[in-house]
Amino acid sequence: MTHMHVAGSIHADATSPAPVWLTRPEDVNALTPKLWSSSVTRDPDGVVSVAGLKLTDLAGQVGTPAYVLDERDFRERARGWRDAFGGWTVYYAGKSFLCTTIARWVVEEGLSLDVCSLGELTVALRAGVPPERIGMHGNNKSEEELRLGLERGVGRIIVDSADEIGRLERLCAELDTTARVMIRVTTGVEAHTHEYIATAHEDQKFGFSIQGGQALVAMVRCYHSPRLDLLGIHSHIGSQIFDTNGFEVAARRTLKLFAQFKEATGVSLAELDLGGGFGIAYTKEDDPASPAELAAGLREIIAHEVRGFGLVEPAISIEPGRAIVGPSGLALYRVGTVKVVEIGGGMSRRYISVDGGMSDNIRPALYAAEYSASLASRSSDAEPVVSRVVGVHCEGGDILVRDEFLPSDVRPGDLLAVPAAGAYSRSMASNYNHTPRPPVVSVLDGRVSTLVRRETLDDLLALDAGASD
Ligand code: LLP
Repeated sequence: MTHMHVAGSIHADATSPAPVWLTRPEDVNALTPKLWSSSVTRDPDGVVSVAGLKLTDLAGQVGTPAYVLDERDFRERARGWRDAFGGWTVYYAGKSFLCTTIARWVVEEGLSLDVCSLGELTVALRAGVPPERIGMHGNNKSEEELRLGLERGVGRIIVDSADEIGRLERLCAELDTTARVMIRVTTGVEAHTHEYIATAHEDQKFGFSIQGGQALVAMVRCYHSPRLDLLGIHSHIGSQIFDTNGFEVAARRTLKLFAQFKEATGVSLAELDLGGGFGIAYTKEDDPASPAELAAGLREIIAHEVRGFGLVEPAISIEPGRAIVGPSGLALYRVGTVKVVEIGGGMSRRYISVDGGMSDNIRPALYAAEYSASLASRSSDAEPVVSRVVGVHCEGGDILVRDEFLPSDVRPGDLLAVPAAGAYSRSMASNYNHTPRPPVVSVLDGRVSTLVRRETLDDLLALDAGASD
């Protein structure tokens, strides 16, 4: 969840500042289940384990920092979404995290895959994802990307601009093929989330506006194009959304557009995609609805609006990313330094520096996103104190966990685990300060597998044309 009251108030204890939402835990060693993958426990010896493997052992095997995915949890979540939305198609949003192994798990669990770049499309094809189960997104898809999608016969291309329609028609003629397309629309719904991740309000780069009439024009154009097969409409209203209110308005506006299109052409469109954006718990404060609750709510909304507009119910799809991979993953760090800094007014802040930072998780710096953390290598009887977990980078905003209660005896050598780090951490990681990106490993029944290996300095220097050895 994105909390905006960054400065915080003197709430959680008398001498260190903390935001109002952060409450002192009764037991600082307790792990809040909704934050962690289902197999995460604190063993009797105090060490946190994932899928039967102690994080101390895992750190010994793969080093730190590392992203750790719980394979069974990922598969169960993927299946959970598929089953809760039975009869609808669930596309896993690859942008949240994608590698060939994940793409295979997604397909094995019966989901389809949403890609939004040439790179993601290439990973999906390399993994053997059946092309008809791939949906292609992007507001400025390259010719190379469109050509690859058309040649391989992807299931659908979500068209984002008039330029793209022309480009697709030309490429289809050249390749003597047709493209199955959906029109990405902006519904004018403002999801209550950070401005940078809300996508359906009017003043942004995505899609065709319903309100401005461009959406209907684009739909009619595609419908009449001999090279394009218009499947339907796509709407994505934003990310980290906790309730169905925004989806209700989006469904009403998109289905009204279905009705207008029917009036204009006499044709009922076959498909509607409601996008992704379903929120997860990053801190104890976050309370996301379950897939079953969301599915029940969305089904009711769709049925109601379809009746209201006198339509035949189209095939519906959704595109969750974060809600599947987010809670399945944690980030594991080793503490390097602990510092207590006087910040005035008799207050101090405890800075715990770990061996990662904004290069492996940019979300706190980019969106003021809040995270949690737990001491993972042991339990502690020490007093919980408000702490800030920071990284190694040359920048004051290099914060991983802005405010968290951690035991006052956290010291160099300890391991910290940050839950809900499976989505948009590795996929948005950078090499800032020439930092190699951490590996992604999965754990199943006590065994580790590497999904993406750790980058090395040699990997980075290999790109440096002036490096001689
Ligand atoms: N479908 C479309 C068309 C999208 O643009 C997105 C996310 C999704 C599905 C998946 O959304 P999810 O279910 O994962 O929330 N990097 C940001 C969020 C921006 C994501 C953009 N699109 C973050 O770290 O929160």
